[in-house]
Amino acid sequence: MNLFKITLITAAALATSVASAQGAKLKVGLMLPATGTFAALGTAIENGFKLYVAEQGGKLGGREIEYVKVDDESDPSKATDNVNKLVKRDNVDVIIGTVHSGVAMAMARVAKESGTLLIVPNAGAGAVTGPMCSPNIFRSSFSNWQPGFAMGEVVAKKGHKRVVTITWKYAAGDESVAGFKEAYTKGGGQVVKELSLPFPGVEFQALLTEIASLKPDAVYTFFAGGGAVKFVKDYAAAGLKKSIPLYGAGFLTDGTLEAQGADADGLLTTLHYADGLNTPRDNKFRTAYATTYKLQPDVYAVQGYDAAQMLGIGLAATKGDVSKKAEFAAALRKAKIDSPRGPFTLSRNHDPVQDFYLREVGGKINKSIGIASKNLSDPGKGCNM
Ligand code: BEZ
Repeated sequence: MNLFKITLITAAALATSVASAQGAKLKVGLMLPATGTFAALGTAIENGFKLYVAEQGGKLGGREIEYVKVDDESDPSKATDNVNKLVKRDNVDVIIGTVHSGVAMAMARVAKESGTLLIVPNAGAGAVTGPMCSPNIFRSSFSNWQPGFAMGEVVAKKGHKRVVTITWKYAAGDESVAGFKEAYTKGGGQVVKELSLPFPGVEFQALLTEIASLKPDAVYTFFAGGGAVKFVKDYAAAGLKKSIPLYGAGFLTDGTLEAQGADADGLLTTLHYADGLNTPRDNKFRTAYATTYKLQPDVYAVQGYDAAQMLGIGLAATKGDVSKKAEFAAALRKAKIDSPRGPFTLSRNHDPVQDFYLREVGGKINKSIGIASKNLSDPGKGCNM
């Protein structure tokens, strides 16, 4: 690092310390999708985040919160410019984002380089908490590997021998399938074909025809948001639901059930959240969310809520001073986060170590029917910190 850069970073840290000592507002940059196939996911994350802040009287670590927002459109080609708007133009203290793995990787690059605190409230890209891991980068959600791995064990135990996978061709889809394949093949199964289409495409017809001709015992899939709605409806319309069981990472049916209707009934998915957990913590959260937004929460709302909780834990330890990065990280590393999903801790690479529920769709909810993987921790491959 050159002297100029060191001087700039030192000056920025000093300005942050002075700002927090003077009780200035904490600038939170929300970089989330407001348009495109993941728009509803972005809204739920923002709602969850703001709900937690409101429950704390609008302050975290003694500082009032000011929001600056960027619509990232789930477009990786615009991601570096978008995150730089928050870091360089708006001078935010912390970035919260995003949903799409490709966008999140660009955000992590900028966060690592600039030292800006980043909490990822969804995107599961392995690289963010793998080779790109950093003391100032945290995730309140999952790694793409986790729900895939959990479902691989379930499908193998069910005795399905030949599986076809289908997903969007980008980091999240690839890593979800890789996690599934790892556990499923270890359990004795064989993935006979890996099908994909570019993100955010929804022209599933030719791929569904191929599945019909391959006649696998089951299909594993990763889709989310608007794409998941269309996939589930198309799978049923193609007549496949009756003959070839469909399994997915839980994003397939989370926040989508109103639109999917009966076509989703009976689907089994794995995720770190489920409806009807009926714990005092989750009931309190669900009531507050429904009262505030006149909507039922989903996994994305929980991840937004927990991103705010994590920020609050770090800021409480540093008395609102985000420049105290080592103290901030130490507080989170030893924290047990009191999430509506159930309590979780962070792994050495700053990913949630958490239970994965096996859920079944019925009556427009994702009901937990058991725990597929207990305390599942991302392997954090390539993370050296
Ligand atoms: C991702 O791109 O990492 C992702 C997007 C939506 C749901 C889950 C993961």
